[in-house]
Amino acid sequence: MSILEIDDLKKMARRRVPKMFFDYADSGAWTEGTYRANEEDLRKIKLRQRVLVDMSDRSLESTMIGEKVAMPVALAPTGMTGMQHPDGEILAAQAAEAFGVPFTLSTMSICSIEDVAENTTKPFWFQLYVLKDRSFVYNLIDRAKAAKCSALVLTLDLQILGQRHKDLRNGLSAPPKFTPKHVWQVATRPRWAFGMLGTQRRTFRNIVGHAKGVGDLASLSSWTTEQFDTKLSWKDVEWIKERWGGKLILKGINDVEDAEMAARTGADAIVVSNHGGRQLDGAPSSISMVEPIVDAVGDRIEVHMDGGIRSGQDVLKALCLGAKGTYIGRPFLYGLGAMGKDGVTKALEIIRKEMDTTLALCGKRLITQASRDMLHR
Ligand code: FNR
Repeated sequence: MSILEIDDLKKMARRRVPKMFFDYADSGAWTEGTYRANEEDLRKIKLRQRVLVDMSDRSLESTMIGEKVAMPVALAPTGMTGMQHPDGEILAAQAAEAFGVPFTLSTMSICSIEDVAENTTKPFWFQLYVLKDRSFVYNLIDRAKAAKCSALVLTLDLQILGQRHKDLRNGLSAPPKFTPKHVWQVATRPRWAFGMLGTQRRTFRNIVGHAKGVGDLASLSSWTTEQFDTKLSWKDVEWIKERWGGKLILKGINDVEDAEMAARTGADAIVVSNHGGRQLDGAPSSISMVEPIVDAVGDRIEVHMDGGIRSGQDVLKALCLGAKGTYIGRPFLYGLGAMGKDGVTKALEIIRKEMDTTLALCGKRLITQASRDMLHR
């Protein structure tokens, strides 16, 4: 099968990853309206076709929070990445490192901060959920520092979990309900199953053995459900920033007023995001919020964006509207599920090729020249 676009990787991942885990990646909250809108609103934006301008010597190189990137596309933090493919976080981090783009490890990852650090050579970014068990959170921040992570991505839009119907129907709840259906799903994906048997990394290794009272899957699921902090406030950003002491990115801003608050914290960047449509179904698409947020705070803080990016064209559109960088979640997860590390590389290559050709056909040479006048409005 020739793999030409992200959707090809998605189809392949669907065949190779057990249904409950494929669905986990491919789900949004409630009606999935916001999940769909993220993609659809990007598709609606039209680019200006230009001719007879110098399109030679193009470059996609840019920076995100001052770090040089081969293209302004980071891998988003995604929980349970190691369930799309054995050792998934390590493989994705290695692919990102070789490609020259940032990798962000989720608090809810299967492989730990230390696992990824031991198997990569360049700094990666760490995403933090602030949980009620503050001593665990302090420790996590310290572990990210010790592993020389170069940015902390603080996720703000998950103080309470959005309901994803697919996960509940698949029994992927806390605690998980294992039934013969799951055994069948795994048995029909032997490549995945053998890979899992061959790795030690099968549970949430950032948490198990580190959080008090969490020693196995059962204690982990009850701990996790009660740990999200509904009382989290802007005040908490202050102590996190201070304890971390490095580059800070605030993720999950989808409103101008919140962007204003975020800009006042002194963080280095914000990510316009609705968690890939997995939290507030009914929220506007991320791309529709980029322009108003950039206009409000773009002169004070770097603005990044994620949600719905499925091609290099989508990246370019977000940049034209003023985002300095973007993130992909599902596209790299599909790649990982389809072909492991090679699949993540493939996803990045597809996006790079699409972005480069589109840039040329829009009559520009440098990605850093992306601007609103490249769009049909
Ligand atoms: C996520 N996302 C996410 N975000 C975060 O800050 N911490 C996390 O642990 C997770 N986990 C997670 C799991 C899965 C399976 C998905 C798909 C997403 C959200 C993620 O970082 C990002 O915001 C979205 O994935 C972007 O949308 P696209 O690119 O998937 O459309």
